[in-house]
Amino acid sequence: MINKLEKLVRECKKASEMIKFFPGDIRILSHYDADGITSAAIIVKALQREGKGFHLTLIKQLSLEWVKRLAGEKAGLVLFLDFGSGLLDSVSEHLGEKQVIVLDHHQKQGSGVPGDKSRKGKIIHVNPMDFGIEENISSSGVSYIVARAMNPENRELAELAIIGAIGDSQVGEIGPQWGVMGLNKEILKDALLSKKIRLMKGLRLWGRYTRPVHKALEYSVEPYIPGISGSESAAVQFLQELNIELKDEAGDWRTLASLSEEEQKRLATGIIAERIRGDQENPEWIFGDVYELLAKEGGFRDANEFATMLNATGKMGKGYLGIALCLNDPGSQENVKKALEGYRRTLGSAISWIQTNRDSVKETEKASYVMAGGEISEHIISNAISTINRSYDTGKPIFGFVDSEEGVKVSARASDELVGKGLNLKAILSRAAGHVGGQGGGHSGAAGASIPKGTEQRFISFVEGLLGGKGEIKMETEKDLNTPTTNMSINPGADYAERGQESRAEGEGDRGENKEEKGSQDQEDREGSPGKKMEGKGLVRYLES
Ligand code: C5P
Repeated sequence: MINKLEKLVRECKKASEMIKFFPGDIRILSHYDADGITSAAIIVKALQREGKGFHLTLIKQLSLEWVKRLAGEKAGLVLFLDFGSGLLDSVSEHLGEKQVIVLDHHQKQGSGVPGDKSRKGKIIHVNPMDFGIEENISSSGVSYIVARAMNPENRELAELAIIGAIGDSQVGEIGPQWGVMGLNKEILKDALLSKKIRLMKGLRLWGRYTRPVHKALEYSVEPYIPGISGSESAAVQFLQELNIELKDEAGDWRTLASLSEEEQKRLATGIIAERIRGDQENPEWIFGDVYELLAKEGGFRDANEFATMLNATGKMGKGYLGIALCLNDPGSQENVKKALEGYRRTLGSAISWIQTNRDSVKETEKASYVMAGGEISEHIISNAISTINRSYDTGKPIFGFVDSEEGVKVSARASDELVGKGLNLKAILSRAAGHVGGQGGGHSGAAGASIPKGTEQRFISFVEGLLGGKGEIKMETEKDLNTPTTNMSINPGADYAERGQESRAEGEGDRGENKEEKGSQDQEDREGSPGKKMEGKGLVRYLES
């Protein structure tokens, strides 16, 4: 009997052959976040290696409008990356003349594949969920397996699949270990073998290469450092007491990466001591995997920070810069840095707006609801809510509502602690959105929804009913999820066209923000979970068989 991984690889091989031997034009549509950008970069690089032309567009969301639009284009092969599983029926209906490949890891909707016999063989739908692999692989991982099957030289692209997985928060829950797991770990082996990534154990502080150490400590929520998290002056004093210089000889702020091994050990010991003093559970849970991108320097060396930059380019409507960065195009680092600055400014303004417009925040015993209307961009709200969730420990989930092209965009976040107690935002948003005629989904600690304008209050009342009292979480089971889908339109995204080397942004100008969220997904590596079983089975064995 063939196992789940073998089935997945078999489908990836089908997709790979279709792409490799397709004689006509190839059209790619991919999601504008880090997972979508790395998925696209992997496929683009694989196509370049085969000497094939393509036309790529990065968008916020795949919609019926986009599917119809593609029907009128001349490309005979259409690839959907990091979305598509939710619109299989529409794809089947409108793209009947074309060959379609969907590489996705989100919940499937509809019956377009493979029910319609006339379409058999015309849609290759590769989604690990179809084979019972529910977690620990993202779209960039699936794209990587496809590319790897196309040409063994594409092993060098495993690095991008790991960045995509990290960007998609597939790094497990906080525990004694923190890092990619399951099938992602198999892909990591390829990244290590190709000498693109170095794996180290280190302190789990965000901004290893880019953030002054005292700032990294001040902003550290997971792990929480009592008396230091949230206070810049306490963080500075703490480092001084540990005899760790804040600045280097040139007068520049030192980052975690610039500390000597001995200083890092002293810092780790100090943090554990503070956590013991502050009565934190598992005070030693402060370490995790650090993925160093060996060919990159400075702020681009840490896979986590790299993923943040890719997200920033996408959210700024400049995902093509993220693609260029993944492909090591000359000048791309400078352009991405500029995009990141804009993103941070926009995120900063969004957070300040929330902080100064207190009457826009509706507090109940069970949750906080930020009603930002048209004040915050729909592209930035999730990052603003993530940052606030990580910065303030309110013991409640936080929801943000903003106007969007489709109606109202909802973004919700909860701490690992609440998720550990059983809170499942994916289930809650999915059900509440379904209740008001919208659509929602995501992960236990990070979920989103799109709902019709004017239904916000009904949505909130429904959410309140699903949440228990403070500290008490009502469980929603997966089988309760029976949410109708809505077709949503999108903003035209950014194009990166191989033919003619044009590279243009169709989207708005600056929209930015900063995705500094991690570990918030439902990534339990349960005993016997598909992800766990995958480990050590050898992806390469199936690829090369
Ligand atoms: O947009 P945001 O970052 O808040 O989304 C969090 C999670 O919720 C993501 O995994 C996203 O794919 C999912 N989501 C969804 N449906 C939406 C919006 C977001 O499934 N309408």
